Amino acid sequence: MKNIIKASVLSANLTKTMLYSLEYRAIHLLSKSFSLFVKPPHRENRKELIDYLRNKVIEIHKMDAENIVEGIYPVSVIYPKASIDHMKNFPKLLLDSLRISRRRKLNVKDDMKGQEIGDAPEYLNRNYHFQTDGYFSDDSAKLYEHQVEILFSGTAAPMRRKLIQKIKETQGFSRPLRILEIGAGVGTATIDFSQSFKYSSYIVSDVSYQYLEAAKKRLKGKFEFVRAKAEDLPFKDGEFDLVFSVYLFHELPRSVREKVIQETYRVLKTNGVMAICDSIQKDDDPFLNQVLEAFPLDYHEPFYKDYTLWNPITSMQMSGFKDIRFDHQLLSKYWTAVKE
Ligand SMILES: C[S@@+](CC[C@H](N)C(=O)[O-])C[C@H]1O[C@@H](n2cnc3c(N)ncnc32)[C@H](O)[C@@H]1O
Repeated sequence: MKNIIKASVLSANLTKTMLYSLEYRAIHLLSKSFSLFVKPPHRENRKELIDYLRNKVIEIHKMDAENIVEGIYPVSVIYPKASIDHMKNFPKLLLDSLRISRRRKLNVKDDMKGQEIGDAPEYLNRNYHFQTDGYFSDDSAKLYEHQVEILFSGTAAPMRRKLIQKIKETQGFSRPLRILEIGAGVGTATIDFSQSFKYSSYIVSDVSYQYLEAAKKRLKGKFEFVRAKAEDLPFKDGEFDLVFSVYLFHELPRSVREKVIQETYRVLKTNGVMAICDSIQKDDDPFLNQVLEAFPLDYHEPFYKDYTLWNPITSMQMSGFKDIRFDHQLLSKYWTAVKE
């Protein structure tokens, strides 16, 4: 039975990878046909690297299947999260890919047209990934998750989920948890995490009103939504058992990353866990160093290079964390640490 489940999960995941890879191809072809006006996203053509990545993609899908049969998370995490929206959004996404490619060509990072960013920090007032409206419009929130999965060829979801495994290896929580998710975006990891942990409260937070609104519309269940800057959390000391983030740290200036670690320590209970999933860093997989160098130029990421060179362990230790563990797979890295 276990083998049948594993094979089914693997084939469902590989189907998603094929679909998203085809969509990437469509975006690339469209941009190429307008290449006088726009710069298409980079398309890897080194056979050695493509073969290497293909094997790594199969490995992560196998890991996902293994985690499901081992009960680390339920099989429902692989159910499609928004098939109708996916189809409805694809034409918009194609059109938007041309705007993004135009910004890439002209290296325009401040095309924010007076977006409502409220009191969000100034470093966020830009077109991250060259995306239209940065993190600050309903349209951007609608397309975001689909764009991420196209970029990662359908592996973003299993890469995010691996953090659940890492948390469970760190702390065998038996009671219902108080969970805080920071930089939650439109709540994609939230869906999987909320099915994998028992919780008494789950706060979904992000600095973008628009992304948080999109998460609110999407998430069914017992969640609270709090607009918050990760570096200045509006919570009391020692409130949470688990504070986690996915793909937040590489977007932040170094001093802010360090503040986020300190704030996380402050709001955790003793023996609470901080968990981070983000990009791999330089030399985690030397074969992929070139990919890490190309990425921030192709998808405007102002703090990414510094992030790839940053050692967070010192900062975690200085904040007081113990039992610091890390691991990486494919393009993601995982840290867990426990509050002393
Ligand atoms: C790359 S997205 C990741 C979103 C989500 N965690 C995911 O896995 O898709 C980064 C998110 O962090 C949010 N963000 C950026 N800087 C932040 C900050 N200082 N405090 C809180 N959220 C922040 C952005 O609004 C965005 O939703």
